[in-house]
Amino acid sequence: LVRGLGTVGRLLGHGWRFLTKVVYREPAFRARCSHVGKRLHLEGAVPQIFGAGRIVIGDDVVIGAPITWDLATPFSEPAELVIGDRVQVNFRNGISAYKRVEIGDDTLIAGNVQIYDNISHPVDPERRLRHDRLREDEAAPVIIGRNVWIGAGAIIMKGVTIGDNSVVAAGAIVTKSVPANTLVAGNPAAVIRTIG
Ligand SMILES: CC(C)(COP(=O)(O)OP(=O)(O)OC[C@H]1O[C@@H](n2cnc3c(N)ncnc32)[C@H](O)[C@@H]1OP(=O)(O)O)[C@@H](O)C(=O)NCCC(=O)NCCS
Repeated sequence: LVRGLGTVGRLLGHGWRFLTKVVYREPAFRARCSHVGKRLHLEGAVPQIFGAGRIVIGDDVVIGAPITWDLATPFSEPAELVIGDRVQVNFRNGISAYKRVEIGDDTLIAGNVQIYDNISHPVDPERRLRHDRLREDEAAPVIIGRNVWIGAGAIIMKGVTIGDNSVVAAGAIVTKSVPANTLVAGNPAAVIRTIG
């Protein structure tokens, strides 16, 4: 009996998730984005999105939950977040795009990965007290190539480019660009070896 009730509960749960996805979650997300391709898979709640920046999502993209994306740029040009085809963005992902963050086709972003194309707050204490806006040179686009794997909890900082097929180890803090076909790890991330 308990097993039967468990199965019924699971089926009801699947049905409810499917219904909310079709009726609310996916339409709400698509309405917020400039473009979303075919076969979007939203695993949970609609991503929390700040700001009016442009969001472009390719085909067959998987987006976990919860997700927070900040595109509330202080600069005059609108921020852009561009996610390619077949990209997977796992749970508790945070992206702060004040200029541009680009994620190439087939790239895998593990849980708890954070990506910042800006320094968030001025380093100068006086400027922080005055709530000064960031200067243009305190932000720079982050460009992640194709078929990159970013391990759990990694943090990618402003101005970083990650070449195609590269791997960022779990927990790495990437402050400098990574060439293609390269494994990096550590804080600050350093090259461990080339791949292939
Ligand atoms: C990067 C990774 C794939 C490397 O695996 P591997 O090829 O088997 O590499 P090794 O375990 O042989 O490690 C190679 C070297 O890198 C170091 N290293 C590996 N992972 C590291 C990490 N996350 N941080 C710091 N150093 C790391 C090892 O200590 C080793 O150093 P040494 O040569 O001085 O002994 C793996 O360690 C990793 O981080 N996987 C991510 C897992 C994850 O995030 N899963 C979430 C679901 S997608």
